[in-house]
Amino acid sequence: MRVVFVGPPGAGKGTQAKVVCSQYGIPQISTGDMLRAAKAQGKLPLELVAAMAAGSLVPDDVVIGLIDERTRQADAAAGFLLDGFPRTMAQAETLDAMLTARGMKLDRVLALEVPRELLIERAVLRRTDKRTGQIYHLKYNPPPPGADLEHRADDREEVVGKRFDTYEAMTAELLPYYEKRGILRRIDGGGTLEEVTARVLEALAGTESTPGGARREGPSFHG
Ligand code: AP5
Repeated sequence: MRVVFVGPPGAGKGTQAKVVCSQYGIPQISTGDMLRAAKAQGKLPLELVAAMAAGSLVPDDVVIGLIDERTRQADAAAGFLLDGFPRTMAQAETLDAMLTARGMKLDRVLALEVPRELLIERAVLRRTDKRTGQIYHLKYNPPPPGADLEHRADDREEVVGKRFDTYEAMTAELLPYYEKRGILRRIDGGGTLEEVTARVLEALAGTESTPGGARREGPSFHG
C-alpha cells in the first residue's frame, strides 16, 4: 500500500500514521521528521532551520531529494506512508513521475480535516519523546513518567497560525488534484484518537496493493 497523509499542522497525521504503519507493516516517511533529524545532527543549512522555525516550507528540491532517496530503501519496497509530503503541486507531480518510472502508483490520499481553533491547542500542547519519537499531548494523551520530552520550535501559537495559512494556500490545488483521480478521502480528524483511527482504517480498507505487512491487533498510542 502506498498512501499519503495530508493535513494542517496538529491534525494528527503523525499520530495516526504510526498506527497505520504498525498495522500494515510499512514505514512512515515524514519529511518533517527527516528535516528535524538533520537539524539535530547539525546537517540542516541555517536558512532551512530558519524557514521551519518561521512556519514556512523548505524548497521543493530539498524534500523531493529526501523522498526519492528514502522510498528507494528496501523497507519501502512493499509500500510506505508519506506523512506531510507532498505539500505543493511541484512535489505532487514529481512524486507521480517518480512512482510511474518505478512502475508504482499511489493507492490513496487521506486528508485529515480539523478546525483551526482545535489545531492550535493540539500543536501548542504537543510533546514528543526524544528517545522513541512517540507523540504525546499534555491534555489528551499525556506522556508516561520518565519520558524525555521535547517541545518543537515551530509549535508556538503564532507559528502554528502561519503554518496553517501556508497549508491552506498549498491544498487549494493539491486536494482537487487527487480528488479528480478518485483516490482522495477526506477524514474528520475531530474526536478522540481512537475515533479518528477507526475512520482512517475504514478509508484504507481494500487498498493493500502489496499485501504482506505484519498486522497487529488494535491501535497503540503509548509506544
Ligand atoms: P511537519 O513535521 O510535517 O509538520 P506539520 O505538517 O505541520 O504537522 P505536525 O507534525 O505539526 O502535526 P501532525 O498532523 O503530525 O499532528 P500530530 O499527530 O503530531 O512539518 C514541519 C515543517 O517542516 C514544515 O512547517 C516545513 O517547514 C517543513 N516541511 C515538512 N514537510 C515539507 C514538505 N513536504 N515541503 C516543504 N516543507 C516541508 O498531533 C498533534 C498533537 O495533537 C499531538 O500532541 C497529538 O497527541 C494530539 N492529537 C492528535 N490527534 C488527536 C485527537 N484525535 N484528539 C486529541 N489530540 C490529538
